[in-house]
Amino acid sequence: MGKVVVVGSINVDMVFTSDIRPKAGETVLGNTFSLIPGGKGANQAVAAAKLGAESVMVGCVGLDSNGDFAVDSLKAVNVNTECVDVVHNVPTGVANIIVAENDNSIIVIPGANYKVDIDLVRRYKEVVLSADIVLLQLEIPLETVEYILDLCSENNVKVLLNPAPAVELSKSMIEKASYITPNEHELKIILGKDSTEEEMKKYPNKLIVTLGSKGVKYFDGTDIKLIPSYKAEVVDTTGAGDTFCGALAAALVRGDGLEDAIRFANRAAAYSVTKLGAQSGMPTLDQLEK
Ligand code: ATP
Ligand code: RIB
Repeated sequence: MGKVVVVGSINVDMVFTSDIRPKAGETVLGNTFSLIPGGKGANQAVAAAKLGAESVMVGCVGLDSNGDFAVDSLKAVNVNTECVDVVHNVPTGVANIIVAENDNSIIVIPGANYKVDIDLVRRYKEVVLSADIVLLQLEIPLETVEYILDLCSENNVKVLLNPAPAVELSKSMIEKASYITPNEHELKIILGKDSTEEEMKKYPNKLIVTLGSKGVKYFDGTDIKLIPSYKAEVVDTTGAGDTFCGALAAALVRGDGLEDAIRFANRAAAYSVTKLGAQSGMPTLDQLEK
């Protein structure tokens, strides 16, 4: 069993479903409200754990009931939370998610996630460096992400960077990551370019671009390959990207080649969109096999 260490965000998602997405200035009556554990980091740690990897979460929550809820949900699926700090005077991160008209819109308030600083990573350095793959996203301070990329590249530890929410990445960050998993929209932002195919060719087997229901494309050194997605009855796509990343990491650390790992991650992500909420729909290995 390979080891995945996630350094990233932990949120509680407040999920509203509605037939209509309210326009600016408008009030609409919705259908359901749910509190669901989320945060891109926690979601990816859960996906990896449910799919058989040893999964460790490094992050921060506030001293509040949301923090307890989020940490308990990680423990419930065997994510190791010994490196999740409880910080005072800052609330646990939250996300307001509207699921309407077959899509979602999300506002994230980072709260305690912005306490995931370089000092915290230094304290948990041995854990981070014990990983077969470190998983990163961009819901913690960018300087922390840069520090971890430096640390891991100096110590030959692989990093899978999910650049969401997207910002333009420096050349050095792109070089130091082993895998980068933007969606199509994020790809343009991280590269700072509108046309991306030639850029993709500069990073063979590294830039793995998710295309929603169309699947995934990446440059394998010879061609730009399209690995199609699986058919799914979509309820909510929130966390599809996170399921993809957690599953990709779980497959890579157990020794799958990149193409097989992408196929496996596509299968897990298709499964996840059939249920409401980021973590609620993530499959176990048994569920995927059935
Ligand atoms: P999100 O931000 O909603 O978590 P994302 O924008 O980061 O997702 P997407 O490209 O939408 O990422 O989806 C990630 C992966 O999830 C896709 O590559 C695909 O494997 C799977 N997926 C997403 N939507 C669907 C769908 N409608 N049917 C089947 N698979 C899907
Ligand atoms: O990727 C989905 C996640 O983004 C949600 O769980 C929400 O918390 C935001 O971080």
